[in-house]
Amino acid sequence: MASKALLLAVAVAVAAGCADATDHIVGANRGWNPNINYSGWSANQTFYAGDLISFRYQKGTHNVFAVNETGYDNCTMAGVTGNWTSGKDFIPLPDPGTYFFICGNGFCQAGMKVAITVAPGIFDLGPQIYPPPAPGADNPSASFTAGAWPAAAAVVTALGAAAIIAL
Ligand SMILES: *[C@@H]1O[C@H](CO)[C@@H](O)[C@H](O)[C@H]1NC(C)=O
Ligand SMILES: *[C@@H]1O[C@H](CO)[C@@H](O)[C@H](O)[C@H]1NC(C)=O
Ligand SMILES: *[C@@H]1O[C@H](CO)[C@@H](O)[C@H](O)[C@H]1NC(C)=O
Ligand SMILES: *[C@@H]1O[C@H](CO)[C@@H](O)[C@H](O)[C@H]1NC(C)=O
Ligand SMILES: *[C@@H]1O[C@H](CO)[C@@H](O)[C@H](O)[C@H]1NC(C)=O
Repeated sequence: MASKALLLAVAVAVAAGCADATDHIVGANRGWNPNINYSGWSANQTFYAGDLISFRYQKGTHNVFAVNETGYDNCTMAGVTGNWTSGKDFIPLPDPGTYFFICGNGFCQAGMKVAITVAPGIFDLGPQIYPPPAPGADNPSASFTAGAWPAAAAVVTALGAAAIIAL
């Protein structure tokens, strides 16, 4: 009996820990704007797979493109894999690796570029116990641009499908 209660407590603790997918707001309260050095912002963040990065900016003036390192270095669309335009874009970071984002409206040269390195997160540690999503919790998928970031749908689906606590 006691051991089952302990097991439950551990399971709940693990589940609570897993629920902490951080939303990294680019530029913090300065947002996604020209003439900000995002290297410093990026260096101060620790990204884990499963986190989100979000961009806040004036819709229509700026936007976000995911490119590769060549695109980032040269402010071009090289290796583009997605684009977002809502002004408040939540982009999932499902896998470890380096991600590059630029503004596609000519403001990349004015500093609107950010490179981030994502460390392995809870989804890379093998079988885990996942928490159920909180009722009525914000569903970040609502802000995704359909088709722009194929991994997004997969991650959100995985989160939903994994919402089973087995004891
Ligand atoms: C941005 O800041 C980084 C250090 O955080 C520095 O190495 C880099 O030279 C800066 N870039 C510009 C364009 O000032
Ligand atoms: C990074 O964090 C340190 C410590 O909190 C702070 O002093 C520094 O200003 C931050 N740098 C940037 C670019 O946000
Ligand atoms: C892009 O930048 C890299 C350096 O980061 C350079 O080697 C390469 O030639 C550039 N490519 C183009 C097409 O400008
Ligand atoms: C980025 O993508 C372009 C176009 O597909 C390609 O030519 C370039 O080699 C890629 N750069 C890197 C660093 O993978
Ligand atoms: C932006 O993404 C949409 C799909 O969401 C795609 O149709 C469009 O071609 C993309 N634009 C560029 C310039 O990559």
